[in-house]
Amino acid sequence: MKSLGKQYKALVIGSSGAIGSAFFTAFKNDPNCSLVAGLSRTTQPSFSLESEISISDSAHLLALNAPFQLIVDATGALIIDGQGPEKQLAKLDPIQLSRAFQINTIGPALLIKHFVPLLDTDNRAIYAKLSARVGSISDNKKGGWYGYRSSKAALNMILQSAAIECSRTHPNLIFAALQPGTVASKLSAKFVSPEHCLPADEAVEGLMNALDSLVAKCGAYFIDYQGQAIEW
Ligand SMILES: NC(=O)c1ccc[n+]([C@@H]2O[C@H](COP(=O)([O-])OP(=O)(O)OC[C@H]3O[C@@H](n4cnc5c(N)ncnc54)[C@H](OP(=O)(O)O)[C@@H]3O)[C@@H](O)[C@H]2O)c1
Repeated sequence: MKSLGKQYKALVIGSSGAIGSAFFTAFKNDPNCSLVAGLSRTTQPSFSLESEISISDSAHLLALNAPFQLIVDATGALIIDGQGPEKQLAKLDPIQLSRAFQINTIGPALLIKHFVPLLDTDNRAIYAKLSARVGSISDNKKGGWYGYRSSKAALNMILQSAAIECSRTHPNLIFAALQPGTVASKLSAKFVSPEHCLPADEAVEGLMNALDSLVAKCGAYFIDYQGQAIEW
């Protein structure tokens, strides 16, 4: 990442996933990156999106490497507890809906709560969260996918509020909701065949270029891997 200077430190949360591991590898191979840390359910420390104490404990331990100039949260789920996205109102189930919000909105919000304090306050810094174009209300032309769509839309609102709040104390901090394109992964495997997907490393290269071009403002960005803005 050119915009973060020659010795930036990066943290990838959800480093076990297809997109998270591609980010981790890209930072490891970037001569400007002096340190990259990965955090997932299987790293040491580890965390779960469903446990705030595991999130705060992990943040406490990773603070030893702070300040970071870049944090990427690449967590998320579409199929949860074996249940795929709901296509009709008749399929709505309160427990499934709350699980979608737990994984895609509340867990990521708690990550923002505990990890933003690890970001650099004196220099350019970025908090990037993998969202999804289907979380755009104005782009929703097909309907369906109630839990996933609405949990990503709510996530986007959390990012916007966090960006506004943090702009008062961290004027150089950028928040971005990211749409990676359709990428082959555990998350997408049931819905699209790999030959119709973008390789994760290409999506990540595009997202890193897009992040490089952003300037700090009082609000979050919603952008895709080609650097195009997405309507909220
Ligand atoms: N792939 C696509 O086409 C696509 C398109 C639009 C948006 N996205 C978004 O991109 C992000 C990454 O997706 P991906 O395609 O890379 O999927 P993935 O390979 O399935 O990765 C998902 C990541 O989330 C983690 N995770 C899930 N539930 C968790 C929990 N309860 N606690 C902690 N970690 C948890 C997974 O950890 P484990 O490895 O432990 O399961 C993994 O690191 C998601 O936010 C997704 O919505 C993806």
